[in-house]
Amino acid sequence: MPHGNHDVLIIGGGVAGLVLALEIADQRAVTLLRPASDDLGSSRWAQGGIAAVLSPSDNLEAHVQDTLVAGDGLCDEAAVRFTVEQGPEAIEWLLNLGVPFTRDTSPGADYPYHLTREGGHGARRIIHAADATGRAVMATLKAHVVAHPRIQVRDDLTAVGLLQDSAGRCRGARCLNSAGRRLDLSAHDTVLATGGASGLYRYTTSPMPASGEGMLMAAELGATLMNLEFQQFHPTCLHDPEGAPFLISEAVRGEGGKLLNIHGERFMPGIDSRAELAPRDVVARAIDSEMQRTASDHVFLDIRHLGEAAIREHFPTIHRHCAERGIDIVNAPIPVVPAAHYSCGGVATDRYGASDIEHLYAIGEVACTGLHGANRMASNSLLECLVYARSCAVALRDASRAPHTDAVNRSTVIEATPPPVQLAEWRERMRVLMSARVAIVRHDTELLKAAEALAELQQEVSPVIRQHGQPGIELSSLWHALRLARLTVASAQRRRESRGLHYNPDCPHHADHHPRPSRVRLAELG
Ligand code: SIN
Repeated sequence: MPHGNHDVLIIGGGVAGLVLALEIADQRAVTLLRPASDDLGSSRWAQGGIAAVLSPSDNLEAHVQDTLVAGDGLCDEAAVRFTVEQGPEAIEWLLNLGVPFTRDTSPGADYPYHLTREGGHGARRIIHAADATGRAVMATLKAHVVAHPRIQVRDDLTAVGLLQDSAGRCRGARCLNSAGRRLDLSAHDTVLATGGASGLYRYTTSPMPASGEGMLMAAELGATLMNLEFQQFHPTCLHDPEGAPFLISEAVRGEGGKLLNIHGERFMPGIDSRAELAPRDVVARAIDSEMQRTASDHVFLDIRHLGEAAIREHFPTIHRHCAERGIDIVNAPIPVVPAAHYSCGGVATDRYGASDIEHLYAIGEVACTGLHGANRMASNSLLECLVYARSCAVALRDASRAPHTDAVNRSTVIEATPPPVQLAEWRERMRVLMSARVAIVRHDTELLKAAEALAELQQEVSPVIRQHGQPGIELSSLWHALRLARLTVASAQRRRESRGLHYNPDCPHHADHHPRPSRVRLAELG
C-alpha cells in the first residue's frame, strides 16, 4: 500500500535537493529522501566554487557569452540568460544563510569575497570557500534543513522507482529501506535531485558518483532524456592508482597552474590560445592526446610558482591530500589524468525544473535545462543547482494541490531479495567498457561494440531482474545504470558530428546544419 500521503517528495540531498527543501518548506510540507551515501555525492566534493557575476568589473553579458562559447553552439540561450541573471541573487541567498565563503582582504579588492578564475571564464567570477566549496555549502544547508520543523528527512530510504497513476502522472516513489523492505511513498509532487551519471565510468573524480538512477527512473515513466552523449571528463583528477579518486580543482589552473607532459614540456599553448584555461572539453582532449603521444598514463599540473604560503592558503585540501599521498605540491608537479566528472545531459526540464511528466520535476545534475549545451563551463553546475532549485520552489508554491483522485501503483510491503553474486562483476564490466569505448574519443566501431556488449549484458541481467519480486537497492541501481548506458551510446551513435564533449574522429567536424539537442526515450531500447 502507498505509505502515507506526502506533499512534496524530494529525492536526493545534495545542494539542489537541500536548497529546494529550504525554499519550499514554509509553504508546503517536505519529505526529503537523503540516504547516508548522499554525503559522498558530487556536491560534497565540488572544490572550485560557484560562478556568478559579482565583481563590479564583470557583467552578465560576459558570463552569458563565455557559457555559450564553452557549450559549443548547443546551449539554450534563454536558459543561459535566465541562469546567469539569477546568479547574483542566489549567491546573496547563500551568504544570508551563512556560507563561509573566502573573503578578499586585499587593499584593491572590489568585492568583499575572493573571486577565482576557471577554464572558459574571461573574468574572475568564482566565489568559493578555499578549495572545499561543496563541503562548506553542504554543511550550512544541512544545518538549516535539520533545524526546519516542516522538513522531514528520511535517511533510511532509497528510491528505486517512481509511482505513476493511470493518467500517467507521477505520484511518488517506490523505496527500499536498508533492510530491503519496500515502502511506496505517495506524493503530490515529486522532485528528482539525484545527481548525474559519471558512475557509468570506471574512473571518476568523486568516490561515489551516481550512475544515472534518477534519469532512468524518470525515463521509466516516459520522460524525455536529453543530450546524454555529453559526458564531461574533468581534465585533472589526481593520478593515484592505489588511492581513492581525488579532484585537483580547475582553480589551480585559474591561479596559473601549468600542464606539462611527462618530459616536463608545456603543451596547451600550442593547442589553444586560451592554453590551460580553455574549456574543459578542449583541455581534457589535449591531455588524452598528449598521453597517447608520449605513451604515458598521466601528465603533470605544476603550481610551484605560487609558493608555499599561497598554496596553503588557496588550496589547503589539495595540499593536505597530496601530502598524505606522498606528493609535495609545493616542490613537485602533481600527476593528473582526466576522469568522468559531470553529465551535461539528463531529464529534459523547463525553467522551473518541470519534466514532461505531470507532477515530476528534476533539478541539479539529473536535469538537462539547456544551460550547458555540449560542454559545461566550470562552476556553472552549483550555480544551476541553486538557480533551478529556487525556481522550482516558485513553481511548487504556485502549483494547484488538488487531492489525489487516483490510486498509485498498488504494492504490498515485501522484502527485497539479496543481490546476486555476479553483481559487482556486471557493474565493473559496464564501467570498463564505457571507459574504453564511450569516453573522451569515441569512434563508430567502438560505439558499435559498446552497444552490442551492453545489450548482451542486459540480456544476462534481465532474467535475474524478472525472477526477483523486488530487486534490492544495488541490483536496481545496476539495472537503471545499464539501460542508461545503452541510451547514452545510442545518443552518441546518432550524433553525426563532433561537438563539445562528443568527439568522434569518424565525423570530426561540426555538422553544418543548426545543431539540435538529442532527445531519447526508454521505449527506444525495445
Ligand atoms: C573544480 O573545482 O574544478 C570542479 C568544479 C566544477 O566542476 O565546476
